[in-house]
Amino acid sequence: MAAADIAKAYAFDGPAVELGAVVLDGKTDPSAHVRIPFVMLNRHGLVAGATGGGKTKTLQLIAEQLSDAGVPVFLTDIKGDLSGVAAPGASSDKLTARATDTGADGWTPTGFPAQFFAIGGKGSGVPLRATVTSFGPTLLSKVLELNDTQESSLELIFHYADKAGLALLDLKDLQAVVAYLVSDEGKGDLEGIGGLSKQTAGVIQRELTGLADSGGDVFFGEPQFDTADLLQVTDGKGVLSVVELAELQDRPQLFSTFLMWLLADLHHHLPEVGDVDKPKLVFFLDESHLLFNGASKAFLNSVTQTVRLIRSKGVGVFFCTQNPTDLPGEVLGQLGNRVQHALRAFTPDDATALAKAVKTYPKSADYDIAEALTTLGIGEAIVTVMGETGAPTPVAWTKLRPPRSLMAQLDPAEQTKQVAGSSLQEKYGKALDRESAYELLAKRHEDAPEPAETPKAAEAKPQEHKKEESGGGGLLGGLMKNKAFQQFTRSAGRSLGREITRGLFGTARRR
Ligand SMILES: Nc1ncnc2c1ncn2[C@@H]1O[C@H](COP(=O)(O)OP(=O)(O)OP(=O)(O)O)[C@@H](O)[C@H]1O
Ligand SMILES: [Mg+2]
Repeated sequence: MAAADIAKAYAFDGPAVELGAVVLDGKTDPSAHVRIPFVMLNRHGLVAGATGGGKTKTLQLIAEQLSDAGVPVFLTDIKGDLSGVAAPGASSDKLTARATDTGADGWTPTGFPAQFFAIGGKGSGVPLRATVTSFGPTLLSKVLELNDTQESSLELIFHYADKAGLALLDLKDLQAVVAYLVSDEGKGDLEGIGGLSKQTAGVIQRELTGLADSGGDVFFGEPQFDTADLLQVTDGKGVLSVVELAELQDRPQLFSTFLMWLLADLHHHLPEVGDVDKPKLVFFLDESHLLFNGASKAFLNSVTQTVRLIRSKGVGVFFCTQNPTDLPGEVLGQLGNRVQHALRAFTPDDATALAKAVKTYPKSADYDIAEALTTLGIGEAIVTVMGETGAPTPVAWTKLRPPRSLMAQLDPAEQTKQVAGSSLQEKYGKALDRESAYELLAKRHEDAPEPAETPKAAEAKPQEHKKEESGGGGLLGGLMKNKAFQQFTRSAGRSLGREITRGLFGTARRR
């Protein structure tokens, strides 16, 4: 087959993302274009390959064209090299030669409208936050790396807090409720619905402390991020929401689960649109393997379901990872558009992974896929996409076009300036600390009368000992012992308590 014949399968009726040009027998044909139709971007995608192969530049290339078409994009910036989307690229002979080679006539360096975000404001971006209650027990268990038993305990804790009207906004709210539920007074509250063992509570508390230390303290809380702010279009161009992650290296699960939270939330709030001419929003989930490492069955099911359902809301999701086998089969099977950069075949493990990857491609009359995958050059990939009729296109060895924006980190001073001037600062710039579980528990303690004690008994007990007995000590420990508080939570459970409706991940509905 000639390059032109392969390209025929990529000549769609409607507009498409231009990926690059067909390479056949070592030659690139600039007139043989490889593309992804806009109508099929909600059939999701995969960008995979060993380090240095060109995954990030591929994301950048697709994101730029979506922006041009008025489609907002959400990007994760793991290494800090995607912030460059906001500035025009540095022109060079090499880049213009690549542009010519790949049929990108009239290629000119261009910057795109970007909005920078940072988890809890750690780093250079508008702070992103979510409340503990909206995150829900399934996602939180994934972040805390809880096992199935501990996960069901966490579900119980959330259930109780919902019923008792104890709002879980930040981590200290959750810690306060867990402490209460294992105290002598509190443990009765869960009787008949399973109870919470001291041991499990201990694990959860320890993990919560670790999470708080590694960024959870500023991430969980208010004002909570409104996913509608990801749908911005300015002067006809889709805004690229870039989330900086450099500060979150030691808690990558927090980030990957937050992305699933965003998707679940979008699913709740976006209208059903079915198949549309172009997507409403496209997500790029970098380092996707983090989502699936050690994931519980409940979590995996929720991810699979979210990815399947979000499609009809016009949202596309691209998973980016080193090896496609990092993703569970049920997720991989839903990714219609594949850009596979070079894979390594150094070790026996590499060879097994390669063989598995090859099997996920349609048979090719033009290429030996296994050989192609190990000999692709930098910025080249094996591509197959979902055609307009819903059938996969034949495999095309593709040399990718160069992005038009900067293929490096944006000047930090420029980023700081953009963040400071962001229209979203007013809404999210400052953290709020509303009255919630922690404050309610603490306040009840202050208002409560001193426990009646005979002078004799008080004398008999040394101070230290008294503290220990109260179940944890301090303000909260005292509170646990307090009958008035116990009554309060029970009546709150009846009058105020309301099970919040939870959807895909058990995330709470808002708005
Ligand atoms: N489409 C492209 N156009 C021009 N240059 C490219 C392209 N793709 C890759 N390159 C070159 O290859 C380098 C590595 O690409 P990139 O950073 O995208 O790799 P990666 O697969 O994301 O690696 P890692 O897994 O380490 O993040 C780039 O800095 C760039 O010089
Ligand atoms: Mg990269």
